[in-house]
Amino acid sequence: MSHKATNRSKIYHYKLDRILGEGGTGTVYRGIDQKSGEPVAVKVFHANFFSDATHVRDLAKSVTRFQKFDHPNVTRVLQFLHSGEEPCLIMEYVDGPDMKWYVRERPWNMDERLVIIYQICNGLQYIHDQGFVHHDLKPENVLFTRKGEVKLCDYALRRAKWFAMFEKENKLAGSVTPMYIAPEIIEKKAASPQSDMYSLGVVLYLLFAGQFPFKADNLQALYMCHLRVKPEHPSGVNRRCPPDLGDLIMRLMSKDPKERFETCDQIRIALANVGQSRI
Ligand SMILES: Nc1ncnc2c1ncn2[C@@H]1O[C@H](COP(=O)(O)OP(=O)(O)OP(=O)(O)O)[C@@H](O)[C@H]1O
Ligand SMILES: [Mg+2]
Repeated sequence: MSHKATNRSKIYHYKLDRILGEGGTGTVYRGIDQKSGEPVAVKVFHANFFSDATHVRDLAKSVTRFQKFDHPNVTRVLQFLHSGEEPCLIMEYVDGPDMKWYVRERPWNMDERLVIIYQICNGLQYIHDQGFVHHDLKPENVLFTRKGEVKLCDYALRRAKWFAMFEKENKLAGSVTPMYIAPEIIEKKAASPQSDMYSLGVVLYLLFAGQFPFKADNLQALYMCHLRVKPEHPSGVNRRCPPDLGDLIMRLMSKDPKERFETCDQIRIALANVGQSRI
């Protein structure tokens, strides 16, 4: 991976080495905690990310819960700093590539892909057990350690913010990606763990069919696809995707949240049985 240099060298008590990436919520730097010497990831939120002071307080409150999260497949959140300089989220630094890289670069290996999905399910189940919905599951928010462990990041940061941005911009903004959004969120109904399952379905579609489930050149058309169009069965798109795995992906992408799964543990159990008949 190539890394952009940064002309910004410090925020709060963190020394910033380099930019790891930039997305819809902010810019992520690799930093060093000058008090402990530990490497960290620092997400400096975009100036317009927070709608108002209540939004900042709301996130600060959630972060006190995130700080207690303890799961091998969930990136640790260390701190949320928001007075004096720009608000920023200090996270565990995950030293491998992200899943966007994986999808693009990694040759097909069915078992390896299944192991990744198990870990995503485990991490998501944990987040749901803590009473949160991830709200932004997509390949950019699935990180890997060098050892190949999956770490979910950027959970529960967006929430209602999604809408404000989409409606204002009314286009497929490069970094805010509506490709993974569940139909019920588009309809402004309540989000639930099943909304994350839909996003997981889109991630799996990309991983196993090798392309996105929908092609649309504007936001309205894409929303319409999420709401009304049944994607082509993944096994029809890519013959290497076993039909029962394709069925599972289609179930995750059901328009009606009730037709998805009850829990992510159930998805993991169902995954253990897919592809048994493949040669
Ligand atoms: N804790 C982390 N450790 C290491 N790298 C990270 C960490 N968090 C993010 N990154 C890297 O920084 C990149 C940009 O992250 P960022 O969250 O800003 O963008 P995004 O995931 O595309 O969008 P979003 O704002 O919706 O989450 C990620 O794709 C990832 O490669
Ligand atoms: Mg992210």
